[in-house]
Amino acid sequence: MTDSAAAIEMHDVAFTYDGDAFVLQGIDLRIARGEFVAVLGGNGSGKSTLAKHMNALLAPDAGRVVVLGRDASDPEAVYAIRSRAGMVFQNPDDQLVASLVENDVAFGPENLGIPAEELRERVDESLEAVGLTGFQKRETSALSGGQKQRVAVAGVLAMHPDIVVLDEATSMLDPQGRESLLDLCKQLHKAGITIVMITHFMEEAALADRVVVLNGGHIACEGSPDEVLSQAGLLEHLNLDVPFACALSLALARRGVDVGVHVRPQELKEALCHLHSKA
Ligand SMILES: Nc1ncnc2c1ncn2[C@@H]1O[C@H](COP(=O)(O)OP(=O)(O)OP(=O)(O)O)[C@@H](O)[C@H]1O
Ligand SMILES: [Mg+2]
Repeated sequence: MTDSAAAIEMHDVAFTYDGDAFVLQGIDLRIARGEFVAVLGGNGSGKSTLAKHMNALLAPDAGRVVVLGRDASDPEAVYAIRSRAGMVFQNPDDQLVASLVENDVAFGPENLGIPAEELRERVDESLEAVGLTGFQKRETSALSGGQKQRVAVAGVLAMHPDIVVLDEATSMLDPQGRESLLDLCKQLHKAGITIVMITHFMEEAALADRVVVLNGGHIACEGSPDEVLSQAGLLEHLNLDVPFACALSLALARRGVDVGVHVRPQELKEALCHLHSKA
């Protein structure tokens, strides 16, 4: 039976690169259409491998992956899945294919057979969305890492995808670039696009509807950002940072200033102001 409200379903998924060591095991995950999910985990925990199952770049050795109602192990579904589920990689050099920015952004939709005029509109819109208006005729090889990353994002947007998977896509960006990519993700989420964001940044994970934490190829825990990111002991055990606001809330509580545990700086600030106004 297909779950029409699900963007991505994983049922008891296991995967091995070498036929021996399992990199993913027992993964059960359902991501609803329009949901914004953050995936956290230490180095080598299987995040990128999981991401590649979300757009049929990899197929599971056991279990089932269903993307937008299509079985990812069905060779006939692979093309449809890849065109509906866009992926932004950590390193844009793994993603850019053309020497001119406009050709790179147009590459995906052109392969879908989008007519020239609409193609131009999509390229212009997508470059505008990532803050690269006017970059159409620039050489991709002459761009900075952050600019290349934005071109890669524009290429995904130009496909008009239902799902966008970002695999540590902000790691090359400066704080401003990171913030604008996060704003873009929020806008896409508002527009109904399913977002899966793999990240090492707790502040980014705090923006999601749900956080999934991987450890050794298993899902170690999942829940709302408040549920997951406030568990300082568990996060440390899993080799993850404790969000700054959470660490500060806990340090304040140890000194007798009980403001509750907050994972977002803004909420901690409000709690402190509230406490101060009562003093
Ligand atoms: N192409 C590959 N061939 C063989 N083993 C691989 C390959 N890619 C990843 N692995 C192994 O699979 C495991 C999970 O890797 P993966 O890249 O999914 O982790 P990750 O959580 O994304 O790590 P990172 O935080 O460093 O990006 C690691 O042990 C890694 O060595
Ligand atoms: Mg990775």
